[in-house]
Amino acid sequence: MRIGVYGAGQMGAAHVRHFSAVPGTTVVGVADADEQRARSAAAAIGATPCPDLDTLLELRPDAVVIVVPNIHHAAASIAALERGVDVFCEKPMATTVEDARRVLRTVERTGCLYQLGFNRRFAPVYIGVRELLTGGVGVFSGTMKMNDGDMRTPAWFSDPKISGGFMYDTAIHLLDLGRWLLGPVQEVRCLARSSCYPDQDDAVMLLRFTSGALVAFSTCGHATWTAPLERVEFFGDHAAIVTEGFERLTYTPARDQPAVTRDFSAFPVPERLGYAQEVRVFIEAMGRGQAGGPTAEDALRAVEFVAACYRSAATDGAPVRLVPYQLDR
Ligand SMILES: NC(=O)c1ccc[n+]([C@@H]2O[C@H](COP(=O)([O-])OP(=O)(O)OC[C@H]3O[C@@H](n4cnc5c(N)ncnc54)[C@H](O)[C@@H]3O)[C@@H](O)[C@H]2O)c1
Repeated sequence: MRIGVYGAGQMGAAHVRHFSAVPGTTVVGVADADEQRARSAAAAIGATPCPDLDTLLELRPDAVVIVVPNIHHAAASIAALERGVDVFCEKPMATTVEDARRVLRTVERTGCLYQLGFNRRFAPVYIGVRELLTGGVGVFSGTMKMNDGDMRTPAWFSDPKISGGFMYDTAIHLLDLGRWLLGPVQEVRCLARSSCYPDQDDAVMLLRFTSGALVAFSTCGHATWTAPLERVEFFGDHAAIVTEGFERLTYTPARDQPAVTRDFSAFPVPERLGYAQEVRVFIEAMGRGQAGGPTAEDALRAVEFVAACYRSAATDGAPVRLVPYQLDR
């Protein structure tokens, strides 16, 4: 497979490595508005440096990997899809529900493959949680938290005109994870405030899932890199599932039964965070011509989820029911 990478920043450079590591896959070009970044990322694997997406698409890649700042994701995805090129896009799919719907409709009309970079769905720690849930552990309530990063690295993270807003950038990962583990969300209540940045960098939510599960989620963008950066605790019938970052999963099955802990900290980072797996799944899906990872619909649902959180925050925590966009199927 011939891959073009659009964006050569911290994540773009990482994806150049992840894609280059898949047998039978060649990164043919790397594009970035910053010429030096494009050149050094391309030189590392003998690819062609490009100044923009059009030039990258002229190299006729089978797929492009979109790793530019969030505000550009929808337009870049649509431009590639319209040229018949498959898309692997970093989160979020878009920074408005309307743009996310446009991307989804383009995916459906062109028949191209689209996968979103929700890497947590491939991380061993969360696959372990999902196996417990599909194995029959029911969840009544829980808590999730995320304090991933510092909104200064890179600087545009703290500018909602580029990021779409903190919740579109970072919280979206755990919101999608919540949906993937517990199913659709029925109702959101969200309080948010601006603490250290002009953007709302603290948010606290109450989530009611269609299953009946109740989850409290808190997230902030100013605790820097204090571990664990994220944590999930789910509670069932005298049972508990607790994760600490990508490193540990502890399961207590019932009263008077010992907790069992699985430790993933020895896994190399690309495997522990699911990056290597999501990229392999995408390449395999291209070979089959059939989606294998998080789809355009999953990506739209996550954008709708974030939009509902912002709507609730705008009304000081009033409940917002999620009404998913009806797909023409
Ligand atoms: N899944 C994850 O764990 C994860 C982690 C980090 C970042 N991301 C996502 O990856 C994307 C990139 O984030 P990053 O941390 O690499 O940011 P970054 O700032 O390090 O890199 C972005 C790159 O895009 C380039 N760029 C900006 N505007 C451009 C344009 N119009 N045309 C071409 N190039 C342009 C910049 O020069 C920069 O090199 C974001 O969407 C972010 O949400 C995902």
